Order: sequence, then C-alpha cells, then structure tokens
Amino acid sequence: MSSSGLHRCRLFLMAVLIIVQGVCICKARQIPERHKNGSQQNHEDQIQMDSSSSTSSYHHVDLAAHVFFLDKDLKFGNRIPVYFTIKDPSRRPPLLPREEADSIPFSSSKLPHLIDLLSISQHSPQAEAMKSTLSHCEFEPLKTETKFCATSLESMLDSARDLFGSGTPFEILTTNHLANKTSSILQNYTIVEEPKVIVAPKMLACHTLPYPYAVFYCHCQKSDNNLYRLMLVGDDGDRTDAIAICHMDTSEWDPNHVAFKVLKTVPGQSPVCHFFPADNLVWVASAALHNE
Ligand SMILES: *[C@@H]1O[C@H](CO)[C@@H](O)[C@H](O)[C@H]1NC(C)=O
Ligand SMILES: *[C@@H]1O[C@H](CO)[C@@H](O)[C@H](O)[C@H]1NC(C)=O
Ligand SMILES: *[C@@H]1O[C@H](CO)[C@@H](O)[C@H](O)[C@H]1NC(C)=O
Repeated sequence: MSSSGLHRCRLFLMAVLIIVQGVCICKARQIPERHKNGSQQNHEDQIQMDSSSSTSSYHHVDLAAHVFFLDKDLKFGNRIPVYFTIKDPSRRPPLLPREEADSIPFSSSKLPHLIDLLSISQHSPQAEAMKSTLSHCEFEPLKTETKFCATSLESMLDSARDLFGSGTPFEILTTNHLANKTSSILQNYTIVEEPKVIVAPKMLACHTLPYPYAVFYCHCQKSDNNLYRLMLVGDDGDRTDAIAICHMDTSEWDPNHVAFKVLKTVPGQSPVCHFFPADNLVWVASAALHNE
C-alpha cells in the first residue's frame, strides 16, 4: 500500500460525517463496569483519553486523566483544568476507504504479516500499539454489552445502522477546537456559556485506537448518562465547542478507576463526567438534540 493511498482519505472524515444522516434506535445497553478489573478499565480509559500516544507511560495516563470533572462543576463561569488530547491533523492516522481497509487483515493472528506489510519495525512502540489495539478489538463483548471496532467510515456506519435499527435519524457530535489548536497542554478552561444538556438515553460513543490507519472502537452506552455541549475558552485562548458526558451512576465502577483518583471521590458518591477528545464521535438520535 502506498503512503499516498494511506493518506488519501484522511480529511474527508468530518465533511462526510457532518452530512451523514442515519437511523439510530440504540437500546439502552449496560456497560458492565463491575466486570472489568482495574487494569482493564484503566486500559480502556487510557486508550480513550490518550489514543495519540503509542506508548503508555505513566506521565501520559496522568495528564490524559485530566478530562474528568464533577457535574457540580458544570456551571457558567466555572474554571476546570482540562488536558485535551489534540492531534495535529497532519499526523492523524489516515482514514482508509472501505475497499482498502477490507483488503488488509485485521487480526492478532496476522500481526507479523501486518507489521511487515505496513513497514513497522518489530518490537517498536507502534508494533506494541497494534498488538494492543487488535486484542482490544478481539476482546469478546459480554452478553449485555455492545461494542465493535471499525476500520473505515463505511463499516462504522453500517455497524451503527445494524445496531440501532431503522427509522430514527441520528447525528454525530464532536468536540471542536475552534482556534485550530494543534498541541495539548493541561490548562484551565472557563465555561463561557450556559451548558446545554442533551438528554440522550440512546447513544454510541466511538473512540480512536492507536493504529497505523484510523480504527474506531465503538460502544453503546447505558442509559443513565447525560450529554453536555459546553463552550469553553482555555487560558491560552483555545476556544472549544466541547462535548462531555456525565455518568450518573458510578456505584458499580471499579474503585481503582482513575477518575476517582483525579476527582478524589469514590464509586457511587457523585456523577463522574469527562470531555471527549476531538477525534471521538458521539452518535445520538436527532430527537435528543431537539429536546434540549
Ligand atoms: C485483569 O485484566 C488483565 C488485563 O486485561 C488480565 O491480564 C488479568 O488476568 C485480569 N485479572 C483478573 C483477576 O481478571
Ligand atoms: C481554522 O481553520 C479553518 C479551516 O482552515 C479556517 O476557516 C478558520 O478561519 C480557522 N480559525 C481560526 C480561528 O484560525
Ligand atoms: C487552574 O486555576 C487554579 C485556580 O485559579 C490554579 O490553582 C491552578 O493551578 C490552575 N491549573 C492550571 C493547570 O493552570
């Protein structure tokens, strides 16, 4: 595969997503937090919050954990310390068209072949990241859980349609850094407008996973979550139209979840919220957006 082939479709993502209309009737599925042991859960958060780094140093996990906040902080005028994982668009893994993605095996058993095919050096952090992403995608979902990995936009859409059924239009929400910021720092962000609540009992969240081309890990969230749209301005002027979620019931979460360390709280004590980084996609039924 040529690198121009790899890079060809990178920039189409947002344009295509904005016009995408689909159907989404996502039954409230439970993400069984309690079945995940500490390392699994933290692994997921780390992938979710810091998918740009192919290594997983403690430092990164630590900074990337600064996306959590408490729902009582959701107030106009409040300041919240946030580390948004921002990727320079030119360094984002390319989004492949489906024919190209489908022509490449996506399986742990093919890893040695893949490393060779994609010209990755063995035992490199990139190779380790591929291994970890593949095993994450192959992790069998529990019966009560819905998740899938998508290697192209088309397959993500198809899976979303299959999952949600037909009839209800959906929209995709993303965090946008309006001042075109290209690097990440931990800084305070001020909430400069009244936060908007999006009551979305039906939603699908898709996070990027580290891989040489774009791979999305999507999971269907259980229903007791509130979505928010917030206008934020960072101390460095990073004006951000941010999407955040509050998990209202954390009583079954692992007590070792990094969110509890950052927020100095314990499972069940209060809702836990976090921002979505800019490359995450949150799918909700359009009705939710018109019910604010
Ligand atoms: C916890 O998760 C890790 C990584 O997913 C796994 O290796 C380990 O066996 C699990 N431990 C238990 C007790 O489930
Ligand atoms: C950000 O980039 C977009 C597209 O290149 C451009 O239209 C917009 O004016 C930029 N915004 C700022 C604040 O520089
Ligand atoms: C955020 O603001 C608080 C209070 O103004 C300050 O103590 C803290 O150091 C700031 N954090 C960052 C990351 O700038």
